[in-house]
Amino acid sequence: MIFMGSASFNRTTVTAALIYANGPIHIGHLAGCYLPADVYVRYLRASGQEVIFVSGTDEHGVPITLRARKEGISPQAVVDKYYAQIRDAFGQFGISFDIYSRTSNPSHYELSQQFFLNLYQKGAFLEEVTEQYFDEQTGQFLADRYIVGTCPVCGNENAYGDQCERCGSTLSPRELLQPRSMLSGQAPVLRPTRNWSLPLDRLQPELEAYVASHPEWKPNVAGQVRSWLQEGLRPRAMTRDLDWGVPVPLPDADGKVLYVWFDAPLGYLTFTKELVGDDWERWWAAPDSRIVHFIGKDNIVFHCLIFPGMLRADGRYQLPDNVPANEFMNLEGDKISTSRNWAVWLHEYLQEFPGKQDVLRYVLLANAPETKDSEFTWKDFQTRNNSELVAILGNFVNRALVLTEKNFGATVPERGPLTAQDESFLQELSLFPEKIGQALEQFRFREALSLLLDAARLGNQYLAATEPWKLLSTNPERARTVLHLSLQLTASLAILAEPFLPFTAEKLRSSMKIRSLGWPDAGTGTLLAAGEPFVNPGLLFEKLDDSLVETQVQKLHNTKKMNELDQKRPAAVKELITYDDFAKLDLRVATIMAAEAVPKSKKLLKITLDVGLEQRTVLSGIAGHFQPESLMGQQVLYLANLTPRMMMGQESEGMILMAEDREGQLHLLRPEAKIWNGAGVS
Ligand code: 2FM
Ligand code: ZN
Repeated sequence: MIFMGSASFNRTTVTAALIYANGPIHIGHLAGCYLPADVYVRYLRASGQEVIFVSGTDEHGVPITLRARKEGISPQAVVDKYYAQIRDAFGQFGISFDIYSRTSNPSHYELSQQFFLNLYQKGAFLEEVTEQYFDEQTGQFLADRYIVGTCPVCGNENAYGDQCERCGSTLSPRELLQPRSMLSGQAPVLRPTRNWSLPLDRLQPELEAYVASHPEWKPNVAGQVRSWLQEGLRPRAMTRDLDWGVPVPLPDADGKVLYVWFDAPLGYLTFTKELVGDDWERWWAAPDSRIVHFIGKDNIVFHCLIFPGMLRADGRYQLPDNVPANEFMNLEGDKISTSRNWAVWLHEYLQEFPGKQDVLRYVLLANAPETKDSEFTWKDFQTRNNSELVAILGNFVNRALVLTEKNFGATVPERGPLTAQDESFLQELSLFPEKIGQALEQFRFREALSLLLDAARLGNQYLAATEPWKLLSTNPERARTVLHLSLQLTASLAILAEPFLPFTAEKLRSSMKIRSLGWPDAGTGTLLAAGEPFVNPGLLFEKLDDSLVETQVQKLHNTKKMNELDQKRPAAVKELITYDDFAKLDLRVATIMAAEAVPKSKKLLKITLDVGLEQRTVLSGIAGHFQPESLMGQQVLYLANLTPRMMMGQESEGMILMAEDREGQLHLLRPEAKIWNGAGVS
């Protein structure tokens, strides 16, 4: 049983946000939501609580269809590809979901449609005809992210119809200034359409009472919720005119789907049902069941007001007990951004740092954006690895195991009479399970992790104070006792570290052959019996050198640059001209006969062309792009009737045609076969 405030619970449903299956995942996702959720669940399991850990991918909504357009594949192909990639990355980082499912499953269509129908039949929706933006060119309504425009709050010209990513404001399409369609780039028109909305305004008093009953919510969460309530909730449409999503289960609703923020959170219910079967409602409805949603800060309003509003309108289920949302993690001084490729991608980390998942877990948790945005730097990654994991945790465990193995063989030595020093060591050890547990129960993950490190520090201090290596010759019995107790702490660390560093904990557990896994056992100092064999697992962590930091920072800058180049768009098409305008251009094939630098000019090359009838001289600002000799003999296209002009005291007669690549390098344009000089181009 778990006690939270005045209530007590027998089981906990822990959910982690259903991320859109539209791209790979990065450290920001892990730090913001999935790691804290995993640590929490692992702790509850170790403490003997009944808990399920439910998550999966959100496979509907405009983010998916936009990605499909970008990749030139179907929305189904997008979600299939990224679902598998995301699931595998989480799996390899040890995120211990009990189920990781998908909102495109038929079971989810069934549950979300049934939920909608139930509300519909209760008269919980407002049926409204409203004017929505419509793209006349593509013949489509423009919901949510299909529409972009200028944010009325901060002036960002690329704000989405549902949210401004620069200032974080939640928006509706009609609030955008100068709206334009993501599909055609055109200004949209307004067209009437029928949709169903949830009157959150009517639910406001109940939602206020609900929020007020949770004074324990984190300040960053409570603050956002309060400001929404102060502004006053408004009805919110729960259906959309789109062709990708869960169809609205009503007659005459062709071309309409459930709003993605209606169906997605219901995914938590569907996946619970997929996991536990018919008994699933117990996890959501029983008064002694507790629901905890782990999310990032951009999802707060949906989980603290809109989803609870849906659940309350339905009336059968418990409302979320806590929503421990984190803020965002930045990277090397800039916001993490998928589109700008400013991120550390999990699949790349796994390839570059095989077997080092716990190092990333540690660094992200130690620096989690719990109360405000935080920052990941590769320097900090190296420092925390070297001076915390290696120097404190790894060092203690290694010294305890190696000293024992070398001097007494790989078995737990006998424990002799205890001194006051030993008693105080055991006393301190006994406090850790509760101290760490309390921090975790209050979602203070950074504090919990630093307490874990304190437990390892306790070991280092104990070894430094007792100096067992000196006792080996003077008082071997005392040395045995000190090492016995040090190994007990090592075993405790295997249990206490498990929520945070599951791979390391597993290594320790199997090397120490610990059978009991209960959280409180970690404080007993009696996990190991004298004479029990152990296997030294070798160094738990390795030092990382400076070159790693340089390589990774350089890689970030390189990929960002490549990405910026990829994002370069061709210039807009110029004003229309007639054929007669075009025909005025006298374009010809010519051959470069000579090319030389122009004295006193860094940019200009003087080029002599054979244009068929005669030779012409052209001055061209391309000295930074070509070595003069590389141009000799090249055939080019040439504009012959450009009015001559003086440059650096010489006359330039015409112009050679060139194209610029994404990096700004110029290239000659030439006929694909050798052609006679003077041939016309049309
Ligand atoms: O922000 C996102 O990635 C959303 N797909 C999260 C949904 S969480 C839940 F409601 F499904
Ligand atoms: Zn804004």
